[in-house]
Amino acid sequence: MTNAQATDTYPGELADVPGWFPPLDQMLFTWFLERQQKQGMRGDLLELGVYMGKSAILLGHHLQDGEKFTVCDLFEGDAPDGANQAEATKSYASLTQQAFERNYLSFHDTLPTVIAAPSSVVSEKVAPGTCRFVHVDASHLYEHVYGDIGAAHDILMPEGIVVLDDFRSEHTPGVSVAAWEAVLNRGLRPVCLSTQKLYGTWGDPEPLQEELLDMLRQRTDVGLSVQEAAGHRLVRARSRGMKPPPFPPSRHYVAPVPASPPAAPVAESRAARPARPAPSRARRLAKDLLPPVVTRAVRRARAQRS
Ligand SMILES: C[S@@+](CC[C@H](N)C(=O)[O-])C[C@H]1O[C@@H](n2cnc3c(N)ncnc32)[C@H](O)[C@@H]1O
Repeated sequence: MTNAQATDTYPGELADVPGWFPPLDQMLFTWFLERQQKQGMRGDLLELGVYMGKSAILLGHHLQDGEKFTVCDLFEGDAPDGANQAEATKSYASLTQQAFERNYLSFHDTLPTVIAAPSSVVSEKVAPGTCRFVHVDASHLYEHVYGDIGAAHDILMPEGIVVLDDFRSEHTPGVSVAAWEAVLNRGLRPVCLSTQKLYGTWGDPEPLQEELLDMLRQRTDVGLSVQEAAGHRLVRARSRGMKPPPFPPSRHYVAPVPASPPAAPVAESRAARPARPAPSRARRLAKDLLPPVVTRAVRRARAQRS
């Protein structure tokens, strides 16, 4: 996690917000959230682990009237144990709650409900069965992710979506163990695997997978495979040079000044040649009235012909 440098500047676009949220996952979040909206599904949103707000800003954009968005992060607070503290110090040392709020408010008029505490408190703060979408992206250590998945299960509505970040990254084996354990022993049904995230539900994944496959098959910027494992259909998507989906710019966005059009290419000899002065009126008159000047060369040519 070394590619997310904190900055002090106001973001103009989502791409300016530091974080770990690849274009493929931006597209998938957008698709899942818009599908829920189209189906008339209403429910709250929850993110565990916001960092500078990159994924939270996108989630907040899909909040419908009457829905609530809650986020939870340690920010500058103490982690509940030494391993989690070491993780936070190593990867998120520059994080402040103020930086998150500054970024979020660059794109939205109001903040979500912010819980500045370990994610283990979230079950006390968010009511069971209320959320349609939960993003689990806080600590990447097994015990914490195990607890966060349990909380997500309780908090989600029956057909809600949970997203588990870094479920197969080389440096986060604890997330892999917790994620596949949830699939094998805790009833989680995978809907889709991106390079970085597992999208799952405790509801029925089949209709969702069918629609998702239809959408993914039409895209030329997605590599797709479908495999069966332990009774689960695993839909795997990877980016093939995908660009992030369109997202409204922030209130601080300044459109780039269009570059002035390049000068029309002019042949070097012409460009270097000084412009010939327009002939004076007297010269033009002389040209019209006087007989043409016969040069010595013309006289010689005439003499040779005769
Ligand atoms: C990978 S970052 C989140 C990235 C973010 N979702 C994005 O899109 O860029 C993980 C975040 O989890 C927070 N975190 C770490 N341990 C936590 C814990 N036990 N409870 C709550 N948040 C925690 C860190 O402070 C950090 O901001």
